[in-house]
Amino acid sequence: MSAVVQTKRITVPEIRARKNAEPVVCLTCYHAHTARWLDDTVDLMLVGDSLGMVMHGMENTLGVTLDMMILHGKAVMRGSKRALVVVDMPFGTYEESPQIAFRNAHRIIQETGCTAVKLEGGARIAEQVHFLSERGIPVMGHIGLTPQKIQIFGGFKTQGRTLAEWPAIEADAKAIADAGAFAIVLEGMAEPLAAKITREIEVPTVGIGASAECDGQILVLEDMLGLNPQPPKFVREYAHMGPGIEAAVKAYAADVRERRFPGAENVYSMKKTG
Ligand code: KIV
Repeated sequence: MSAVVQTKRITVPEIRARKNAEPVVCLTCYHAHTARWLDDTVDLMLVGDSLGMVMHGMENTLGVTLDMMILHGKAVMRGSKRALVVVDMPFGTYEESPQIAFRNAHRIIQETGCTAVKLEGGARIAEQVHFLSERGIPVMGHIGLTPQKIQIFGGFKTQGRTLAEWPAIEADAKAIADAGAFAIVLEGMAEPLAAKITREIEVPTVGIGASAECDGQILVLEDMLGLNPQPPKFVREYAHMGPGIEAAVKAYAADVRERRFPGAENVYSMKKTG
């Protein structure tokens, strides 16, 4: 008789309960192999629409489609068993109305099997957050430097640099938390403001270029692995895989050029005799 080992995924209430508790470890993830490597360690994997830039070489996230998010969401779900997986709703799929947001979020949940979706924006999309949460779709919020508004911001600019900006950003955080978001990403935000919002709202905040006082942190995986030749200033690189890949490819090319490659038969006979 074989024992069935069941791994239970981390749930939304478990992440929600991490307010003022053990920090939530989050990373972006876009494909199955990396999902396998992250799964034992991270609490939450975000299939972020940053995949447009990281995986597809786009200039920003505005051209990312729902089908792209679903494709990568499926891959990450196949590669993971334990972490909670959140998939971003791309630009143009939720802003218009709560009903349209629900239809598209439902597609993401149904086709990928992920647990939750993430929406960018504050008070202006609180209705959507409420509509989805009330109907069974958990929502992660995202305020501060929201890349889908890059054309309005005029670039990737830190938000809340002047005190005059703070009340609107704080009101955004409160609106999204009150609407039912189970956690909120604070991106590219002045450090004291991110710390203040973290103290003010009742759901966990997840910082990226924000504050160490947030209830958790997220980075783009490829940035922290050293694959991005021009990472954002706040990124700490924990590996230098870009140069590592280059060195491996050079070693491979040298082997190919010197004909130092065993054929399948050699490998077979090595296995048989070895
Ligand atoms: O798309 C993304 O990767 C994100 C993170 C930067 C939070 O939204």
